[in-house]
Amino acid sequence: MRIDEIEENSGLTGDVDGRPVAVFRGADATYVFENTCPHLHCPLSWNADENAWDCPCHGSQFTPEGKVVRGPARQDLRRLEASIDNGAISLR
Ligand code: FES
Repeated sequence: MRIDEIEENSGLTGDVDGRPVAVFRGADATYVFENTCPHLHCPLSWNADENAWDCPCHGSQFTPEGKVVRGPARQDLRRLEASIDNGAISLR
């Protein structure tokens, strides 16, 4: 996945180094999460209308920075260490 595939202040799901990820590109920072809901591990989707990560399985919602705002999930998203080199995102 490349950073220029993601609009600023928006999220995208995909693969990095063969691993499913959810990436939020903020104005000042990029957040790379494991794309699995902390509740029962469904993949997340980006909700542009509400500027949030949604879990389609049981309705958990997370901020762009991965903080849980609505359950049943009780934990934040798991952030992964990543780097961006020439626009390409890779995991450390
Ligand atoms: S697996 Fe995400 S809310 Fe249940």
